Amino acid sequence: MQAVIIGATGGIGHALTLALAQRPDCDRVHALSRTGDSSAGSNISPGQIDLCDEASIEAAARQVAATGQADLVIVASGVLSNGKDVQPEKSYRHQSLTAFEHVFAANTFGPGLVAKHFLPIMPRQGRAVFAALSARVGSITDNRLGGWHAYRASKAALNMLIRNYAIEQARRNPDFIAVSLHPGTVDTPLSSPFQSNVPNAQLFTPQQSAAALLKVIVGLDPAASGKAFDWAGKQIPA
Ligand SMILES: NC(=O)c1ccc[n+]([C@@H]2O[C@H](COP(=O)([O-])OP(=O)(O)OC[C@H]3O[C@@H](n4cnc5c(N)ncnc54)[C@H](OP(=O)(O)O)[C@@H]3O)[C@@H](O)[C@H]2O)c1
Repeated sequence: MQAVIIGATGGIGHALTLALAQRPDCDRVHALSRTGDSSAGSNISPGQIDLCDEASIEAAARQVAATGQADLVIVASGVLSNGKDVQPEKSYRHQSLTAFEHVFAANTFGPGLVAKHFLPIMPRQGRAVFAALSARVGSITDNRLGGWHAYRASKAALNMLIRNYAIEQARRNPDFIAVSLHPGTVDTPLSSPFQSNVPNAQLFTPQQSAAALLKVIVGLDPAASGKAFDWAGKQIPA
């Protein structure tokens, strides 16, 4: 199996890269990130990708295709804030075009362009999985607290794109699976400014989250395609 991790420098992306590289069924992990930094490991191939630059996405897909088909693609990148003017909004009054553009570019448009360039290099026959790290807060049904407008909306829209890809790819390969995954609340740079209300027992390490997510991915069948699941494999309503 050849796997691709997008956002391999991120907390969860890095842990996914290392966990996949140790699996006996994984021949190679393409660890793609903005800096192209790689994790150690003879079966880890570093590569550069910026989700806000379509040419870099296309070039990364070409680099992966040169070594074979991509059996598993995980989009593990994403943003919630930028430490400055982009912060999760507590009220509609705090919305800004800057925040909408920043968050949607990384969380929705970027993964969409990844699908554009990576779905064509996935197998036409047999199992193939395209997974994007979404978030439970992207569920419209599950939204009881409000707030975090740009982030929630970007993940809800991402979930819609995933469902679209599931429908379109099923016509090409009935064993193709596209899913959104909620990794749990994980101790990473993305969540660290917002962890104060999270009990310690509910805060995963990136390694715990990666192990749980890979278990979920292994257990998926084509009937799961187009849906969202949490780290425990429980379906999240749209
Ligand atoms: N942590 C949580 O509690 C939690 C909960 C629910 C959902 N999630 C989701 O899980 C995913 C991973 O989050 P994380 O917690 O691992 O966050 P993280 O440690 O901050 O990692 C985010 C990654 O996204 C990459 N990235 C951001 N913008 C990018 C762009 N334009 N092009 C390429 N890469 C880009 C970053 O790359 P650089 O290293 O280059 O900045 C980094 O590798 C996100 O989609 C997040 O929404 C996380």
